[in-house]
Amino acid sequence: MRIVSGMRPTGRLHLGHYFGVLRNFLKLQEEGNRCFYFVADWHALTTSYKNSEELKKNTEHMMRMWLGVGLSPKKSTLFIQSLVKEHSELSLLLSMITPKSWLEWNPTYKDLKYNLLRISELSKELKERVGESLKNFLPSLNLKVHKPQKFQEFMLEKFTSSLIDALFEGLIEGETLRELNTSKKQYYEIDTFGFLGYPVLQTADIIVYKGEGVPVGEDQLPHIELSREIVRRFNRLYGKTFPEPRAILTESPKLLGFDGRKMSKSYKNAIYLDEEEESLRKKVMAFFTDPQKLRRGDPGRPNLCPVFSYHRLLTPKEKTLQIEEDCKKGILGCVDCKKIFLNSLKNFLEPIKERYERVSPSYAWEVFKEGSLKAREVAGKTLEEVREKMNLP
Ligand code: TRP
Repeated sequence: MRIVSGMRPTGRLHLGHYFGVLRNFLKLQEEGNRCFYFVADWHALTTSYKNSEELKKNTEHMMRMWLGVGLSPKKSTLFIQSLVKEHSELSLLLSMITPKSWLEWNPTYKDLKYNLLRISELSKELKERVGESLKNFLPSLNLKVHKPQKFQEFMLEKFTSSLIDALFEGLIEGETLRELNTSKKQYYEIDTFGFLGYPVLQTADIIVYKGEGVPVGEDQLPHIELSREIVRRFNRLYGKTFPEPRAILTESPKLLGFDGRKMSKSYKNAIYLDEEEESLRKKVMAFFTDPQKLRRGDPGRPNLCPVFSYHRLLTPKEKTLQIEEDCKKGILGCVDCKKIFLNSLKNFLEPIKERYERVSPSYAWEVFKEGSLKAREVAGKTLEEVREKMNLP
Protein backbone atom coordinates (compact mmCIF):
# COMPACT_ATOMS: atom_id res chain seq x y z
CA MET A 1 0.00 0.00 0.00
CA ARG A 2 1.13 3.57 -0.61
CA ILE A 3 1.41 5.38 2.70
CA VAL A 4 1.73 9.16 3.01
CA SER A 5 1.84 11.31 6.09
CA GLY A 6 3.33 14.48 7.47
CA MET A 7 3.73 16.26 10.77
CA ARG A 8 3.97 19.97 11.46
CA PRO A 9 7.29 20.95 13.01
CA THR A 10 5.91 23.06 15.83
CA GLY A 11 8.11 21.99 18.75
CA ARG A 12 9.48 19.05 20.68
CA LEU A 13 7.96 15.65 20.01
CA HIS A 14 6.28 13.91 22.95
CA LEU A 15 4.79 10.56 23.89
CA GLY A 16 1.44 11.61 22.41
CA HIS A 17 3.09 11.98 19.01
CA TYR A 18 4.78 8.62 19.42
CA PHE A 19 1.79 6.54 20.49
CA GLY A 20 -0.73 8.52 18.45
CA VAL A 21 1.11 8.60 15.13
CA LEU A 22 4.79 7.69 14.95
CA ARG A 23 4.19 4.15 16.13
CA ASN A 24 2.08 3.64 13.02
CA PHE A 25 4.70 5.28 10.80
CA LEU A 26 7.12 2.61 12.05
CA LYS A 27 4.72 -0.28 11.82
CA LEU A 28 3.76 0.57 8.25
CA GLN A 29 7.41 0.99 7.33
CA GLU A 30 8.29 -2.42 8.76
CA GLU A 31 5.38 -4.09 6.98
CA GLY A 32 7.08 -3.23 3.72
CA ASN A 33 4.69 -0.56 2.45
CA ARG A 34 5.84 2.23 0.16
CA CYS A 35 6.00 5.03 2.74
CA PHE A 36 6.36 8.77 2.19
CA TYR A 37 6.88 10.71 5.41
CA PHE A 38 7.52 14.43 5.41
CA VAL A 39 8.06 17.38 7.70
CA ALA A 40 5.09 19.67 6.93
CA ASP A 41 6.90 22.99 7.24
CA TRP A 42 4.49 24.87 4.97
CA HIS A 43 1.64 23.73 7.17
CA ALA A 44 3.50 24.94 10.23
CA LEU A 45 3.57 28.39 8.65
CA THR A 46 -0.23 28.54 8.42
CA THR A 47 -0.41 29.00 12.18
CA SER A 48 3.00 30.33 13.16
CA TYR A 49 4.13 32.57 10.33
CA LYS A 50 4.92 35.20 12.95
CA ASN A 51 7.52 33.07 14.68
CA SER A 52 9.10 31.54 11.64
CA GLU A 53 12.52 31.93 13.27
CA GLU A 54 11.70 28.70 15.14
CA LEU A 55 10.96 26.78 11.98
CA LYS A 56 14.43 25.52 11.07
CA LYS A 57 15.21 24.44 14.61
CA ASN A 58 11.90 22.59 14.87
CA THR A 59 12.40 20.93 11.49
CA GLU A 60 15.83 19.80 12.57
CA HIS A 61 14.48 18.40 15.82
CA MET A 62 11.76 16.50 13.98
CA MET A 63 14.14 15.00 11.43
CA ARG A 64 16.55 13.83 14.12
CA MET A 65 13.77 12.44 16.28
CA TRP A 66 12.20 10.55 13.39
CA LEU A 67 15.56 8.91 12.78
CA GLY A 68 15.87 8.43 16.55
CA VAL A 69 12.65 6.43 16.83
CA GLY A 70 13.69 4.22 13.95
CA LEU A 71 12.37 5.62 10.70
CA SER A 72 14.88 4.67 8.06
CA PRO A 73 15.74 6.28 4.73
CA LYS A 74 16.47 2.81 3.41
CA LYS A 75 12.87 1.75 3.94
CA SER A 76 10.86 4.97 3.69
CA THR A 77 11.12 8.18 1.70
CA LEU A 78 11.80 10.83 4.34
CA PHE A 79 11.64 14.42 3.15
CA ILE A 80 10.68 18.05 3.68
CA GLN A 81 7.44 19.36 2.22
CA SER A 82 8.77 22.74 1.11
CA LEU A 83 11.56 21.09 -0.88
CA VAL A 84 9.01 19.36 -3.10
CA LYS A 85 7.43 22.24 -5.00
CA GLU A 86 5.08 19.86 -6.79
CA HIS A 87 2.90 19.84 -3.65
CA SER A 88 2.22 23.54 -4.13
CA GLU A 89 1.43 23.25 -7.82
CA LEU A 90 -1.06 20.46 -7.18
CA SER A 91 -2.51 22.42 -4.27
CA LEU A 92 -3.12 25.37 -6.58
CA LEU A 93 -4.82 23.17 -9.15
CA LEU A 94 -7.00 21.51 -6.50
CA SER A 95 -8.00 24.92 -5.19
CA MET A 96 -9.70 25.53 -8.56
CA ILE A 97 -12.13 22.67 -8.01
CA THR A 98 -12.68 22.94 -4.24
CA PRO A 99 -15.86 24.79 -3.25
CA LYS A 100 -15.17 27.43 -0.63
CA SER A 101 -18.05 26.12 1.49
CA TRP A 102 -16.32 22.76 1.97
CA LEU A 103 -13.43 24.59 3.58
CA GLU A 104 -15.64 26.85 5.64
CA TRP A 105 -17.37 23.79 7.08
CA ASN A 106 -14.09 22.31 8.19
CA PRO A 107 -14.22 22.09 12.03
CA THR A 108 -10.88 23.83 12.59
CA TYR A 109 -12.01 26.77 10.49
CA LYS A 110 -15.47 26.90 12.05
CA ASP A 111 -13.83 26.92 15.45
CA LEU A 112 -11.72 29.90 14.40
CA LYS A 113 -14.76 31.76 13.10
CA TYR A 114 -16.74 31.04 16.25
CA ASN A 115 -13.95 32.38 18.41
CA LEU A 116 -13.55 35.51 16.31
CA LEU A 117 -17.28 36.11 16.69
CA ARG A 118 -17.04 35.71 20.48
CA ILE A 119 -14.14 38.12 20.56
CA SER A 120 -16.07 40.73 18.66
CA GLU A 121 -19.10 40.31 20.94
CA LEU A 122 -16.95 40.71 24.00
CA SER A 123 -15.19 43.75 22.57
CA LYS A 124 -18.59 45.30 21.99
CA GLU A 125 -19.55 44.66 25.59
CA LEU A 126 -16.28 46.14 26.75
CA LYS A 127 -16.80 49.16 24.55
CA GLU A 128 -20.15 49.92 26.12
CA ARG A 129 -18.57 50.04 29.56
CA VAL A 130 -15.66 52.14 28.41
CA GLY A 131 -18.11 54.48 26.67
CA GLU A 132 -19.89 55.19 29.94
CA SER A 133 -16.68 56.00 31.75
CA LEU A 134 -15.42 58.21 28.94
CA LYS A 135 -18.60 60.29 29.09
CA ASN A 136 -17.52 61.47 32.53
CA PHE A 137 -13.80 61.33 32.07
CA LEU A 138 -13.37 63.33 28.87
CA PRO A 139 -15.19 66.49 30.09
CA SER A 140 -13.14 66.38 33.30
CA LEU A 141 -10.03 67.03 31.24
CA ASN A 142 -11.19 70.56 30.43
CA LEU A 143 -10.25 70.43 26.77
CA LYS A 144 -11.49 72.59 23.98
CA VAL A 145 -13.22 70.02 21.78
CA HIS A 146 -14.07 70.93 18.19
CA LYS A 147 -16.26 68.01 17.29
CA PRO A 148 -17.60 66.46 20.52
CA GLN A 149 -19.43 63.51 18.93
CA LYS A 150 -16.55 62.54 16.70
CA PHE A 151 -14.01 63.00 19.46
CA GLN A 152 -15.99 60.73 21.77
CA GLU A 153 -16.13 57.97 19.14
CA PHE A 154 -12.49 58.39 18.25
CA MET A 155 -11.36 58.07 21.87
CA LEU A 156 -13.69 55.15 22.49
CA GLU A 157 -12.27 53.17 19.57
CA LYS A 158 -8.66 53.82 20.58
CA PHE A 159 -9.20 53.24 24.24
CA THR A 160 -10.98 49.93 23.81
CA SER A 161 -8.42 48.54 21.42
CA SER A 162 -5.62 49.66 23.76
CA LEU A 163 -7.31 47.73 26.55
CA ILE A 164 -7.41 44.59 24.43
CA ASP A 165 -3.74 45.03 23.52
CA ALA A 166 -2.90 45.46 27.20
CA LEU A 167 -4.80 42.27 27.93
CA PHE A 168 -2.88 40.33 25.28
CA GLU A 169 0.35 41.72 26.73
CA GLY A 170 -0.66 40.30 30.09
CA LEU A 171 -0.79 43.76 31.70
CA ILE A 172 -4.40 43.62 32.93
CA GLU A 173 -7.26 41.25 33.64
CA GLY A 174 -10.93 41.61 34.53
CA GLU A 175 -14.48 40.29 34.50
CA THR A 176 -15.50 41.18 30.93
CA LEU A 177 -12.03 40.35 29.72
CA ARG A 178 -11.87 36.88 31.16
CA GLU A 179 -13.10 35.08 28.08
CA LEU A 180 -10.86 37.21 25.89
CA ASN A 181 -7.78 35.64 27.42
CA THR A 182 -4.37 35.85 25.82
CA SER A 183 -4.64 32.53 24.01
CA LYS A 184 -7.29 34.15 21.82
CA LYS A 185 -4.71 36.46 20.35
CA GLN A 186 -3.75 33.81 17.83
CA TYR A 187 -7.25 33.80 16.36
CA TYR A 188 -6.69 37.29 14.99
CA GLU A 189 -3.53 36.09 13.36
CA ILE A 190 -4.70 32.96 11.60
CA ASP A 191 -7.76 34.25 9.77
CA THR A 192 -5.81 33.94 6.54
CA PHE A 193 -6.20 32.45 3.09
CA GLY A 194 -3.48 29.92 3.93
CA PHE A 195 -5.30 28.69 7.01
CA LEU A 196 -8.58 28.33 5.14
CA GLY A 197 -6.80 26.41 2.40
CA TYR A 198 -4.94 24.12 4.81
CA PRO A 199 -6.92 20.99 3.83
CA VAL A 200 -6.37 21.64 0.11
CA LEU A 201 -2.60 21.64 0.58
CA GLN A 202 -2.91 18.57 2.78
CA THR A 203 -4.85 16.80 0.05
CA ALA A 204 -2.16 17.66 -2.47
CA ASP A 205 0.46 16.28 -0.06
CA ILE A 206 -1.28 12.94 -0.03
CA ILE A 207 -2.44 12.44 -3.57
CA VAL A 208 0.69 13.71 -5.29
CA TYR A 209 2.02 10.25 -4.27
CA LYS A 210 -1.34 8.59 -4.93
CA GLY A 211 -1.47 7.80 -1.23
CA GLU A 212 -3.96 5.19 -0.08
CA GLY A 213 -3.31 5.03 3.67
CA VAL A 214 -2.67 8.06 5.86
CA PRO A 215 -1.46 7.42 9.42
CA VAL A 216 -2.65 10.40 11.48
CA GLY A 217 -4.03 11.40 14.85
CA GLU A 218 -7.77 11.41 15.49
CA ASP A 219 -7.91 15.19 15.13
CA GLN A 220 -7.11 14.84 11.43
CA LEU A 221 -10.17 12.78 10.49
CA PRO A 222 -12.21 15.71 9.16
CA HIS A 223 -9.28 16.72 6.95
CA ILE A 224 -8.97 13.24 5.47
CA GLU A 225 -12.71 13.20 4.82
CA LEU A 226 -12.32 16.44 2.88
CA SER A 227 -9.43 14.95 0.92
CA ARG A 228 -11.66 12.09 -0.14
CA GLU A 229 -14.28 14.53 -1.38
CA ILE A 230 -11.75 16.53 -3.34
CA VAL A 231 -10.41 13.33 -4.88
CA ARG A 232 -13.89 12.19 -5.89
CA ARG A 233 -14.52 15.55 -7.51
CA PHE A 234 -11.24 15.49 -9.39
CA ASN A 235 -11.82 11.96 -10.64
CA ARG A 236 -15.33 12.86 -11.79
CA LEU A 237 -14.18 15.97 -13.62
CA TYR A 238 -11.00 14.70 -15.26
CA GLY A 239 -11.22 10.92 -15.17
CA LYS A 240 -10.06 8.46 -12.55
CA THR A 241 -6.61 9.54 -11.45
CA PHE A 242 -6.31 9.24 -7.67
CA PRO A 243 -7.29 6.60 -5.12
CA GLU A 244 -9.45 7.81 -2.21
CA PRO A 245 -7.11 7.99 0.77
CA ARG A 246 -8.20 6.65 4.13
CA ALA A 247 -6.98 7.44 7.63
CA ILE A 248 -5.07 4.90 9.68
CA LEU A 249 -5.36 5.42 13.45
CA THR A 250 -3.36 3.79 16.24
CA GLU A 251 -5.06 1.79 18.98
CA SER A 252 -4.33 4.50 21.52
CA PRO A 253 -5.03 7.68 19.61
CA LYS A 254 -5.55 9.80 22.70
CA LEU A 255 -2.83 9.71 25.31
CA LEU A 256 -3.31 11.54 28.60
CA GLY A 257 -0.84 14.06 29.95
CA PHE A 258 0.21 14.04 33.57
CA ASP A 259 -2.69 16.32 34.55
CA GLY A 260 -5.22 13.86 33.13
CA ARG A 261 -6.01 15.98 30.07
CA LYS A 262 -5.05 15.04 26.51
CA MET A 263 -1.29 15.28 26.11
CA SER A 264 -0.45 18.47 24.28
CA LYS A 265 2.35 20.97 24.16
CA SER A 266 -0.11 23.82 24.70
CA TYR A 267 -1.41 22.30 27.95
CA LYS A 268 2.21 22.00 29.16
CA ASN A 269 1.48 18.46 30.31
CA ALA A 270 3.63 16.51 27.89
CA ILE A 271 6.47 14.06 28.39
CA TYR A 272 8.98 14.68 25.64
CA LEU A 273 10.82 11.95 23.80
CA ASP A 274 14.09 13.68 24.69
CA GLU A 275 13.02 14.50 28.26
CA GLU A 276 15.91 14.94 30.69
CA GLU A 277 16.12 12.45 33.53
CA GLU A 278 15.36 14.83 36.37
CA SER A 279 12.32 16.44 34.79
CA LEU A 280 11.09 13.00 33.74
CA ARG A 281 11.12 11.93 37.37
CA LYS A 282 9.30 15.08 38.45
CA LYS A 283 6.62 14.70 35.81
CA VAL A 284 6.04 11.06 36.63
CA MET A 285 5.73 11.77 40.34
CA ALA A 286 3.25 14.59 39.62
CA PHE A 287 1.07 12.32 37.48
CA PHE A 288 -2.66 12.17 38.15
CA THR A 289 -3.98 8.84 39.41
CA ASP A 290 -7.40 7.59 40.42
CA PRO A 291 -8.68 10.51 42.57
CA GLN A 292 -10.49 8.12 44.93
CA LYS A 293 -7.29 6.33 45.86
CA LEU A 294 -5.77 8.51 48.51
CA ARG A 295 -3.45 6.14 50.35
CA ARG A 296 -1.83 2.78 49.90
CA GLY A 297 -4.62 0.72 51.50
CA ASP A 298 -7.38 2.20 49.31
CA PRO A 299 -8.48 0.00 46.42
CA GLY A 300 -7.80 1.71 43.06
CA ARG A 301 -9.54 1.67 39.70
CA PRO A 302 -6.80 1.05 37.11
CA ASN A 303 -9.17 1.56 34.20
CA LEU A 304 -9.67 5.17 35.24
CA CYS A 305 -6.03 5.84 36.09
CA PRO A 306 -3.84 7.73 33.58
CA VAL A 307 -0.73 6.02 34.93
CA PHE A 308 -2.20 2.60 34.32
CA SER A 309 -2.92 3.46 30.69
CA TYR A 310 0.84 3.91 30.33
CA HIS A 311 1.62 0.59 31.99
CA ARG A 312 -0.49 -0.99 29.27
CA LEU A 313 1.75 0.59 26.64
CA LEU A 314 5.15 0.41 28.31
CA THR A 315 5.34 -2.17 31.09
CA PRO A 316 5.73 -5.89 30.31
CA LYS A 317 2.40 -7.65 30.12
CA GLU A 318 2.78 -9.92 33.12
CA LYS A 319 3.88 -7.12 35.35
CA THR A 320 0.99 -4.98 34.12
CA LEU A 321 -1.50 -7.68 35.15
CA GLN A 322 0.14 -7.87 38.57
CA ILE A 323 -0.11 -4.08 38.94
CA GLU A 324 -3.76 -4.16 38.00
CA GLU A 325 -4.53 -6.81 40.56
CA ASP A 326 -2.49 -5.26 43.37
CA CYS A 327 -3.91 -1.80 42.71
CA LYS A 328 -7.49 -3.10 42.85
CA LYS A 329 -6.73 -4.92 46.08
CA GLY A 330 -5.11 -1.84 47.54
CA ILE A 331 -1.78 -3.58 48.12
CA LEU A 332 0.06 -1.36 45.66
CA GLY A 333 0.36 2.35 46.45
CA CYS A 334 0.48 5.03 43.78
CA VAL A 335 4.06 6.03 44.60
CA ASP A 336 5.36 2.52 44.08
CA CYS A 337 3.25 2.15 40.98
CA LYS A 338 4.80 5.34 39.60
CA LYS A 339 8.28 4.06 40.32
CA ILE A 340 7.57 1.10 38.06
CA PHE A 341 6.14 3.52 35.51
CA LEU A 342 9.27 5.66 35.66
CA ASN A 343 11.41 2.62 35.10
CA SER A 344 9.36 1.47 32.11
CA LEU A 345 9.50 4.96 30.66
CA LYS A 346 13.26 5.13 31.03
CA ASN A 347 13.68 1.78 29.31
CA PHE A 348 11.52 3.01 26.49
CA LEU A 349 13.03 6.48 26.08
CA GLU A 350 16.72 5.72 26.57
CA PRO A 351 17.40 4.03 23.24
CA ILE A 352 15.39 6.71 21.43
CA LYS A 353 17.28 9.50 23.16
CA GLU A 354 20.59 7.83 22.50
CA ARG A 355 19.94 7.45 18.78
CA TYR A 356 18.53 10.98 18.60
CA GLU A 357 21.72 12.37 20.05
CA ARG A 358 23.86 10.32 17.71
CA VAL A 359 22.09 11.76 14.63
CA SER A 360 23.94 14.98 13.82
CA PRO A 361 21.98 17.87 12.35
CA SER A 362 24.07 17.80 9.18
CA TYR A 363 23.41 14.10 8.69
CA ALA A 364 19.69 14.65 9.20
CA TRP A 365 19.61 17.43 6.60
CA GLU A 366 21.52 15.25 4.18
CA VAL A 367 19.08 12.38 4.56
CA PHE A 368 15.99 14.55 4.21
CA LYS A 369 17.34 16.53 1.26
CA GLU A 370 18.15 13.36 -0.57
CA GLY A 371 14.71 12.02 0.29
CA SER A 372 13.17 15.19 -1.11
CA LEU A 373 14.85 14.59 -4.47
CA LYS A 374 13.41 11.08 -4.56
CA ALA A 375 9.98 12.38 -3.61
CA ARG A 376 10.15 14.93 -6.43
CA GLU A 377 10.63 12.22 -9.01
CA VAL A 378 7.40 10.52 -7.98
CA ALA A 379 5.50 13.78 -7.51
CA GLY A 380 6.72 15.09 -10.87
CA LYS A 381 5.23 12.11 -12.69
CA THR A 382 1.86 12.67 -11.06
CA LEU A 383 1.90 16.30 -12.08
CA GLU A 384 2.63 15.46 -15.69
CA GLU A 385 -0.46 13.30 -15.66
CA VAL A 386 -2.53 15.98 -13.93
CA ARG A 387 -1.44 18.74 -16.31
CA GLU A 388 -2.38 16.59 -19.25
CA LYS A 389 -5.79 15.78 -17.80
CA MET A 390 -6.47 19.42 -17.06
CA ASN A 391 -5.30 20.44 -20.54
CA LEU A 392 -2.30 22.39 -19.40
CA PRO A 393 0.87 22.38 -21.52
N1 TRP B 1 -2.28 18.35 9.30
C1 TRP B 1 -1.36 17.39 9.81
C2 TRP B 1 -1.15 17.63 11.31
O1 TRP B 1 -1.39 18.72 11.78
C3 TRP B 1 -0.04 17.46 9.12
C4 TRP B 1 -0.14 17.14 7.67
C5 TRP B 1 0.09 17.99 6.66
C6 TRP B 1 -0.49 15.89 7.10
N2 TRP B 1 -0.07 17.36 5.45
C7 TRP B 1 -0.41 16.07 5.70
C8 TRP B 1 -0.84 14.64 7.62
C9 TRP B 1 -0.71 15.03 4.82
C10 TRP B 1 -1.13 13.61 6.75
C11 TRP B 1 -1.06 13.80 5.34
O2 TRP B 1 -0.73 16.76 12.02
